[in-house]
Amino acid sequence: MRVPAKINLALQVGPRRADGYHGLATVFQAVSLYDDVTATPATSFSVTVTGEGADQVPTGPENLAYRAAQLLSERADALGGVALDITKGIPVAGGMAGGSADAAAALVACDALWGSDSERSELAELAALLGSDVPFLLRGGTALGAGRGEVLSDVLARGTYHWVLAIADGGLSTPAVYAAFDELGARTGPGPELVLAALRSGRAEVLAQALNNDLQPAAISLRPSLRRVLEAGAEIGALAGIVSGSGPTTAFLAGDAQHATRLAAELSGLGVARAVRTAYGPVHGARITERTG
Ligand code: C5P
Repeated sequence: MRVPAKINLALQVGPRRADGYHGLATVFQAVSLYDDVTATPATSFSVTVTGEGADQVPTGPENLAYRAAQLLSERADALGGVALDITKGIPVAGGMAGGSADAAAALVACDALWGSDSERSELAELAALLGSDVPFLLRGGTALGAGRGEVLSDVLARGTYHWVLAIADGGLSTPAVYAAFDELGARTGPGPELVLAALRSGRAEVLAQALNNDLQPAAISLRPSLRRVLEAGAEIGALAGIVSGSGPTTAFLAGDAQHATRLAAELSGLGVARAVRTAYGPVHGARITERTG
């Protein structure tokens, strides 16, 4: 199973709701940084994690992929368990929904393994129980997210966009970033309309003017060094730079693939990030790439 990361091209955050979540109006794009998840039949549930940042990922029931497998087995009356092996390519706690991606991949992989043959809509329902970003990672592409991010609808998006991702040392906690957003006055910015119009044009230069993330000031307040990363991207000629989701990964938009490669080399040279990667989007959601089990 291969599952991508996401960037929020627009992230408008409303006030905290009675259930503790914030209402969102967001535009997700799935980008070509991937985790690989393999599901093997087993008598109990287990998770192993390898790759960058693996030591920071829990392997017990706190792991969202573990919970996804358990939830599907309860719903599908599947007997036995599963051994999930996760190889991380998505930065851990980086604001790119790596944990949610693994949960989406686990749902699809276990569904195939157990022959439970769920409809995509049934998996999407389970995905929403697991986390706000899980339904999008199941689906991929580009989508508008409402509710707490789990209510998805299609958008008309043209073109492929090329990104440079500056991966920071260490992660940020999503609840902590939302709490900082509240403490800073819960300032709600523009909605996703400009981004939606830019995506219809298919032009990176237009999208660059439209990107917005209401969580960016909160992420910067918890990680002031992000300011320097954003400045560095502007200095080397990125079309735009934005903190990805709750951060601390920063996404820079390039004009094309060659521009992205050049920006990535220059950004690496400046030493403002732990790692720099290029990626493009939109790409597919969680997909089976080989036989599982
Ligand atoms: O849904 P998920 O488990 O990914 O959310 C993690 C945390 O992020 C929530 O417990 C909440 O503190 C915060 N959150 C929020 N509003 C959202 C999504 C997440 O406040 N729409």
